[in-house]
Amino acid sequence: MELFDLIVLGGGPGGYNAAERAAHGGLKTLLIEKRALGGVCLNEGCIPSKSLLYSAKVFDYCNHSDVYGVACAGATIDQKKVVERKNGVVKMLVSGIGAKMKKAGVKVVAAMGTIQGRDADGFKVEADGEVYCGKQMLICAGSEAVVPPIPGLREGLADGFVMTNREVLDLDAIPEKLVVIGGGVIGLEMASYYNSVGSKVTVVEMMDKIAGPTDREISNILMNNYAKKGIEFRLGCKVTEVGNGKVTFEENGELKSVEADKVLCAIGRRAVTTGYGLETLNVELERGAIKTDEFMKTNVAGLYAAGDVNGKVMLAHTAYREGEVAINNILGKKDRMRYDAIPSVIYTNPEVGCVGETEESAKAKGLDVEVVKMSMMQSGRYIAENPGGDGIVKVIVDKKYHRVLGVHMIANYAAEIIYGAAIMIETETTIDNLKEIIFPHPTVCEVVREALFEVK
Ligand code: NAI
Repeated sequence: MELFDLIVLGGGPGGYNAAERAAHGGLKTLLIEKRALGGVCLNEGCIPSKSLLYSAKVFDYCNHSDVYGVACAGATIDQKKVVERKNGVVKMLVSGIGAKMKKAGVKVVAAMGTIQGRDADGFKVEADGEVYCGKQMLICAGSEAVVPPIPGLREGLADGFVMTNREVLDLDAIPEKLVVIGGGVIGLEMASYYNSVGSKVTVVEMMDKIAGPTDREISNILMNNYAKKGIEFRLGCKVTEVGNGKVTFEENGELKSVEADKVLCAIGRRAVTTGYGLETLNVELERGAIKTDEFMKTNVAGLYAAGDVNGKVMLAHTAYREGEVAINNILGKKDRMRYDAIPSVIYTNPEVGCVGETEESAKAKGLDVEVVKMSMMQSGRYIAENPGGDGIVKVIVDKKYHRVLGVHMIANYAAEIIYGAAIMIETETTIDNLKEIIFPHPTVCEVVREALFEVK
């Protein structure tokens, strides 16, 4: 039986990054992945959706090029080519991770790993007929799409009428009518893509707003942008049945339905904690996910968990950092996971980028805050590139310590700008010190600087 310092179970962003860091830190490391390296993010999430959305953006530019003085009449979209291009992007990145693991000296086993228990030597994991032993173990088993017991949903998934985040990225024909259940991140990004390429899209959302915990003013701007582009939003509507070419939902106590050629079910994800022998370790769970502390430790000595499987913040970049925290602690370096400056992005057009407290969440915590709001029209570059744009940025400032607690913006490039705001929060830099930082001109990010000068 081969003995490792560390076994990492699951090769998504949490797992592969942690395995590489562990190997660089001198640990003999084994990474076990049953599907493809890169996990959901790379194979059926973040990356493929960005490839599709970029194709849609190019198509949108073609269809609205006149305003820029460019004529592109007769643009068409070739869905098969869009998907082929996406597959090429994914393939390149997956093989890149394989090469990284090899270079770092991580042993990769491409098979289902099943935990068999733990003894004095360490954790025993069976994969591909072999049993491996790890002195310590990091679980990065990820999450799966929630499929609630809505009548017709499971049958729909089986016959292809209903899709999850996986199938929706591989459609070889554009559905005429697409109904998206859930106005969260996945629902909105895919609604955006299929709206751009010509589907009639309806988003059915249970809450009274889209985009989950996103600042309400920003989610309203986003919704208005997409309503203008033709997406129909049915808010406050709970889906009750799916099938026979339609989605039925309850609106104000009344049953209504909307026709669909395809349905995307995007109503959240849950941690994967069964099917791989986790129960042999008596791991403590919390709301269906592995309970971890700030060092990513579980209740079992030597056992760590990072990424979606701990159910804290289900984002790839959270997983990266959690994996790093786990490895640093395993290597004896003090490191602690902090969750108050994790940026989140919605890759719609316009993009949404948020980090830290919203006005609502800050007030709920009893914090005394000042909210500075600024139109993106303060940016010359924004005006030049976004005719008719209605983007904004909101900066939430702690009055007591005179520092930034949150930044929320809707405008293209927000995804690339928001990390700067995360640095402002994480480093607890005062507004006066931030004002001394020089931003490039002309850029969209300058509006964040302008907003800082408005703080009292
Ligand atoms: P989500 O939790 O973001 O949104 C699900 C939505 O479905 C909620 O708004 C909820 O109110 C609604 N809903 C639930 N049951 C419903 C029902 N019966 N009828 C109508 N609406 C219903 O989940 P989503 O979009 O599936 O995303 C899953 C995870 O993937 C999230 O944790 C997200 O952060 C992550 N993700 C992140 C991306 C990014 O960072 N850009 C992109 C895609 C996914």
